[in-house]
Amino acid sequence: MKFFVDTAEVDAIAELNDLGMVDGVTTNPSLIMKSGRDILEVTKEITDLVDGPVSAEVVALKADDMIAEGRKLAKIAENIAVKVPLTWDGLKACNVLTNEGNMVNVTLCFSANQALLAAKAGATFISPFIGRLDDINLDGMQLIADIRQIYDNFEYETEILAASIRSVNHAFEAARIGSDVMTAPPDVIKKMADHPLTDKGLDAFLKDWEKTGQKIL
Ligand code: G3P
Repeated sequence: MKFFVDTAEVDAIAELNDLGMVDGVTTNPSLIMKSGRDILEVTKEITDLVDGPVSAEVVALKADDMIAEGRKLAKIAENIAVKVPLTWDGLKACNVLTNEGNMVNVTLCFSANQALLAAKAGATFISPFIGRLDDINLDGMQLIADIRQIYDNFEYETEILAASIRSVNHAFEAARIGSDVMTAPPDVIKKMADHPLTDKGLDAFLKDWEKTGQKIL
């Protein structure tokens, strides 16, 4: 499974990128607001750092305006994926921008039918929001499983990008179901390394090692 980092914080992306953990980055208007940075500047910085797709989201609501914004964002770098919302206008914009040779990430997906439409419109990525479905007592992971089945039934090439990942369990389930990509905040990716038995085992090894009086270096 590919790992995208869901943030516009350049330092956090760089830290994970140095470990080879970053296959791409996703941003959205809320993450740009949180970074306090100018969208064009910070997105350019991220595209310079990361080889994989970097999603930058349009904010217009009408298809023509989304297309104009998408074309501007796509000019930032070759690895931009233009992010459009899953509305009828967003699907129109997806189709036009895809036919112009751009990567398009269709976001704010909350149903399998929406994901089917995005694939028909030629989306490169579909972003189902797991956490936000769980927030309202629905099953976000079931949505990933349903989309996986539908895309496999008809061999759609659109990649499933599990988004709104809030926990290590979300990450595990998305991988188990066969999501092509997950996008997660840096702290969730880092927490995937944690296990209390690893810490306990390491502690015991180091105590025993001290008793040997040896040194490796
Ligand atoms: O990639 C979409 C993601 O940023 C949404 O996450 O936690 O705001 O639902 P969240």
